[in-house]
Amino acid sequence: MRSQIYRTASRTVKSLLSASRSSPLLCEGRTAAVATLTTFRGRIPTVTSFHERAQYKSSQSGWLSAALTLPAAAYMLHDQEAHAAELERTFIAIKPDGVQRGLISEIISRFERKGFKLVAIKLVVPSKDFAQRHYHDLKERPFFNGLCDFLSSGPVLAMVWEGEGVIKYGRKLIGATDPQKSEPGTIRGDLAVVVGRNIIHGSDGPETAKDEIALWFEPRELVSYTSNAEKWIYGAN
Ligand code: RTP
Ligand code: MG
Repeated sequence: MRSQIYRTASRTVKSLLSASRSSPLLCEGRTAAVATLTTFRGRIPTVTSFHERAQYKSSQSGWLSAALTLPAAAYMLHDQEAHAAELERTFIAIKPDGVQRGLISEIISRFERKGFKLVAIKLVVPSKDFAQRHYHDLKERPFFNGLCDFLSSGPVLAMVWEGEGVIKYGRKLIGATDPQKSEPGTIRGDLAVVVGRNIIHGSDGPETAKDEIALWFEPRELVSYTSNAEKWIYGAN
């Protein structure tokens, strides 16, 4: 009985979502689904509180628990779809000094443990021309040539990370440009000493993130997937 209810709920939500995706009235189906869900999320209690209440009220029979869990199942599906569609992305690169110093796993683990999701990754040696394109906004600065020489001097680990607020918070994880001024606990604060070897790059805003992701990655290299951890990382009470 319960599994049948789950299946029905799941089918209903899926068909609602696919209908919203294919509607000719909507230029972006996923966005529309997300907008609906934001309202939905505001009114429906969390999966946990639903489940706890159902268990508490229905100690003898299963029907109440199943009935109350039905919207919770729908909520979970909705919520995962919502996050797949609405979360922002940023471009993060471990520069040649970070790669050569063996700091790849240390840096990745900080983003991963925070709860951000890796959606693209590759190791590349950029050409000087490519480095100049990446740092084009700094072309008037005296260190521009040296900076581009350095970025193109060895392997760079290019990544795209996804998550709520990842652009701004990614910069917090990274720390101030000059490691002498980066707070302890940040990547540059803990792992670097001078500005010319500050081991990591992170996009500084939504437009830059979009441009940098497009510069470093083909669209097909970006992997959209639902992480099992998402339902534990995101949620409102
Ligand atoms: P990034 O772009 O690499 O994430 O660094 P950022 O936003 O914190 O700093 P930005 O001003 O964009 O500078 C880019 C990189 O240039 C090098 N730099 N050298 N005075 C100097 O010698 C100097 N200032 C900046 C750093 O490697 C910095 O990350
Ligand atoms: Mg910058």
